[in-house]
Amino acid sequence: MNDTTTPDLAHWTAVLAGTHGITARLEPLDGEYDLNFRVLTDGTATHVLKVMRPGCDPGLVEMQCAALAHLAHTAPAVPLPRVVPALDGASVVTRDGPDGQPRLLWLVTLLDGAAYGNFRPHRPALLGELGRRIGEIDAGLADFAHPGLARSFKWNLTEAGWIRPHLDLIEEPRRRIVTRICDEFDARLAPALAGLPKVPIHNDINDYNILVARDASGQPRISGLIDFGDMAAAPAVCEVAIAGAYAVLGHERPLDALGDLVAGYHAVRPLGDDELALVWPLLLTRLAVSVVNAAMMKRERPDDPYVTISQAPAWRLLELSEGIAPEMALAQLRLACGQPALPAAPRVLDWLAARRGSFAPVLDEDLSRAGMADLSVATPVPGDPFALEADEAAVLGGIVAEGEPARLGAYAEPRLIYTGAAFRNGPHRASDRRTVHLGIDIFAPAGRRVLAPLAGTVEAVADRAERFDYGGVVILRHETGEGDAFFTLYGHLNPDVVQCITPGQSIAAGQAFATLGAPHQNGGWAPHLHFQLALTTSGFGHDWPGVADPDEAGLWTALCPNPAALLNLADEVTRYKGPDFDAVRSARGARFAANLKLSYNQPCLFLRGWRHYLFDAMGRPYLDAYNNVPHVGHAHPRIQALAARQMAVLNTNTRYLHPAQTAFAEALTAKLPQRLSVCFFVNSGSEGNELALRLARAHTQGRDMVVPDHGYHGMTTGALDLSAYKFNGPGGGGAPGWVHLVEVADPYRGRYRGDEQAGPKYAAEVDTALAAIEARGGRLAGFIAETFPSVGGQIIPPPGYLAAVYEKIRAAGGVCIADEVQTGLGRLGRHYWGFEAQGAEPDIVVLGKPLGNGHPLGAVVTTAEIAASFANGMEFFSTFGGSTLSCVIGREVLAIVDDEGLQANAGTVGDHLLAGLRTLQERHAVIGDVRGMGLFIGVEMVRDRETLAPATGAAGYIANRLREHRILIGTEGPHDNVLKIRPPLTFGRDDAEMLLDRLDRILAEDACRAG
Ligand SMILES: Cc1ncc(COP(=O)(O)O)c(C=O)c1O
Repeated sequence: MNDTTTPDLAHWTAVLAGTHGITARLEPLDGEYDLNFRVLTDGTATHVLKVMRPGCDPGLVEMQCAALAHLAHTAPAVPLPRVVPALDGASVVTRDGPDGQPRLLWLVTLLDGAAYGNFRPHRPALLGELGRRIGEIDAGLADFAHPGLARSFKWNLTEAGWIRPHLDLIEEPRRRIVTRICDEFDARLAPALAGLPKVPIHNDINDYNILVARDASGQPRISGLIDFGDMAAAPAVCEVAIAGAYAVLGHERPLDALGDLVAGYHAVRPLGDDELALVWPLLLTRLAVSVVNAAMMKRERPDDPYVTISQAPAWRLLELSEGIAPEMALAQLRLACGQPALPAAPRVLDWLAARRGSFAPVLDEDLSRAGMADLSVATPVPGDPFALEADEAAVLGGIVAEGEPARLGAYAEPRLIYTGAAFRNGPHRASDRRTVHLGIDIFAPAGRRVLAPLAGTVEAVADRAERFDYGGVVILRHETGEGDAFFTLYGHLNPDVVQCITPGQSIAAGQAFATLGAPHQNGGWAPHLHFQLALTTSGFGHDWPGVADPDEAGLWTALCPNPAALLNLADEVTRYKGPDFDAVRSARGARFAANLKLSYNQPCLFLRGWRHYLFDAMGRPYLDAYNNVPHVGHAHPRIQALAARQMAVLNTNTRYLHPAQTAFAEALTAKLPQRLSVCFFVNSGSEGNELALRLARAHTQGRDMVVPDHGYHGMTTGALDLSAYKFNGPGGGGAPGWVHLVEVADPYRGRYRGDEQAGPKYAAEVDTALAAIEARGGRLAGFIAETFPSVGGQIIPPPGYLAAVYEKIRAAGGVCIADEVQTGLGRLGRHYWGFEAQGAEPDIVVLGKPLGNGHPLGAVVTTAEIAASFANGMEFFSTFGGSTLSCVIGREVLAIVDDEGLQANAGTVGDHLLAGLRTLQERHAVIGDVRGMGLFIGVEMVRDRETLAPATGAAGYIANRLREHRILIGTEGPHDNVLKIRPPLTFGRDDAEMLLDRLDRILAEDACRAG
């Protein structure tokens, strides 16, 4: 609450000059009860003047001053305010306020930085540093003593039970959550806290008492911990719980964030097992106190919307906590602190390892002969990684006949076969999903006996008959010789097991207690045993996850370790061994030149693609909003099938007749203006542009070319000479004499911004280029442009531009080449070709990237006249260009665009995305321009909407942050400040929503606001 009277700045300015001899300007700051002023000397903020509320206990102020003075010695590295003594040497002085009431006043140094609550993102390093700093404060206060510490008040977490009489202020169903927390506090937490030593703690490290600033290298660091006004003596774990309650607000994975914080604290001031066990429940208690306190304030001030708004993140976390078992939270915090997930874990694992080789065989078979099945992300099964088919499941891993050795499915193998909604964690198709297998599969014939590897009792037996579930499933409970319990699970059994055994029944080592189910009995899978070990069942009971989210695999593999010992196998043999990211990366460094670039600060390694999704080695889905080559989607089934068939039949070149060549040429020319009737098939866009240049020169006998600035036409010598993006970029040698650049027709950044006549005016630039050709005694061959400049910044030229340019070029005897590598084949939604959108008709069209959907295929299509000029006797032949395979694929791509309505999809989804981006533009000043057509979209980032100063840093930051959120986009433009969005044309509305949602969050992060 702000002080209700307007602070009398003149009065307190004069007081400060008298008490501290500082002549300054004061600016009021927020404070709940007291007056706080930012003190500016010579325009620079240097101090904070604190004027306490009338009647404030001097002992409490004195305690804060003493604690800060103490910490200046015991924790000198922690950025804390320092108390500046008054002229008479006192830390605290008393002066009358303007109303004549005496008030305590003191002055501290001002620390740089933004409030943690306003700073985003809260990365692990920042949370870890916060934890360490808090640990240093607590360690530094260990020998601090003050009578004020013993006070009793509502923010002392040991007294949290005070909220109980007020719970009726909270409405159901939320009341149930806080009631449960209150019950837990009274029953378990309060007694546990009573048994812990009370030590001096800050007691209020909330998100507005933490400051964050960037260091010299731009990394966010904790730059201040302020406001010791709530100090108290309490168990140190209360400090961690309180800090944690605020530090993790808004996190999608709050326990990860809490783990980072707690690990930092633990490294400096170690927490005992009993303390660690209290962190999560006490954190929830603190949130409960906060929401109840807010409800009380709301009753007092019903019209203040801020009270409700400020509690929203706390409620979100409280509601989220309903789905988090406290045992799981504790295990995760223990792991974060470098402890075993469970205290007994090392004992159980040692016990099992010592007995490896002596357990009874689980499937009546020596598994040392078993081979491995591959169910990993790198396999093409399931065909659709979002929808496993029944017939795929029924043979997955392979059918093992009687007499053949079993086959094993690896432990911790990431798989894409778990496609049901239950495996997805989030609202979007590309949301997180569980992929990491937590058991070992043993593929063996249905009907085979399943034996207990060691003695145990039946913990649970069930028939989980849903498709793709377990069918018959049994959990056995075991104990080590030292009395530690552990559990084994047997899934995909014949469900008649439910009639054969009952919970509580003893099972002897080597006793057969079930048989393997057939697909119609075992959930629909190829016959196999899913064999899993768990060191506990608390937190998940009998509903064991058989697979884990890759980002939670650390926790789950600790709770469900490799069960290989129980199968008398080595862990190493049964564990999934995927590609080693670091090894692949370093081999790449050694085998390829340094200018073969990788995208993103944290490069990606993908093993699978499907439509507009890519999957990394752990099976995490990425939304591909960048790659325009897989035009009809990654791994399109029709192209897979056709290409495989053609490779099995014939793949030869254009020196032989084949109907596929003409079929493709006819399909392609059918999409183009009638004049463009002759095709050349090549392997790439570069080769296409190189050939187009030759065609233009052959037809005109000229050599000189007019080209818009910042363009890209390819990496071969001639194409590179036409590409200002390259020859004027790093390592480039400038334009050759025969290349004449004209300004890009950029409606946002170009010189005719906002001019209705911009199209013809930009076109007039060509006149200057033509004059220059004449002046140098050259002869015009033609004009080439990316119809919509892409590397130039996803630019949509103003209406009439290209038609006017073509007219001028033709009048000067030149040929007009449209590089449609980026824009062709329906990407623009309303138009199949970019030149149609411009009302222009080229003489030569060059196609590349999307035409083969990933197969290297380019094409040049021109008029019969130009083709005739080119046919001057020299043979045209491209070894691979127009191969049978290429022609089959190219024709299929054209057909799929039509059959699946992808051009229309690009139009509707593109409009939706553009509208969403424009809404973001209203909220985020860093977005200067949103432009695009269909799924060819650019978002230009600026530091200033007037000067258009490019926000290059923000653009790079966003692309990298989106990659962390598993969405792929790129950056482009002469200033590299344009977000480039041009996904496969299968991109849907849900994907657009996901992109917009993530982008919105990232745009609110500090680096974007700073530009
Ligand atoms: C507009 C344009 N033209 C030509 C090319 C060159 O195509 P390729 O890389 O297939 O040689 C590219 C490649 O990015 C391009 O964007």
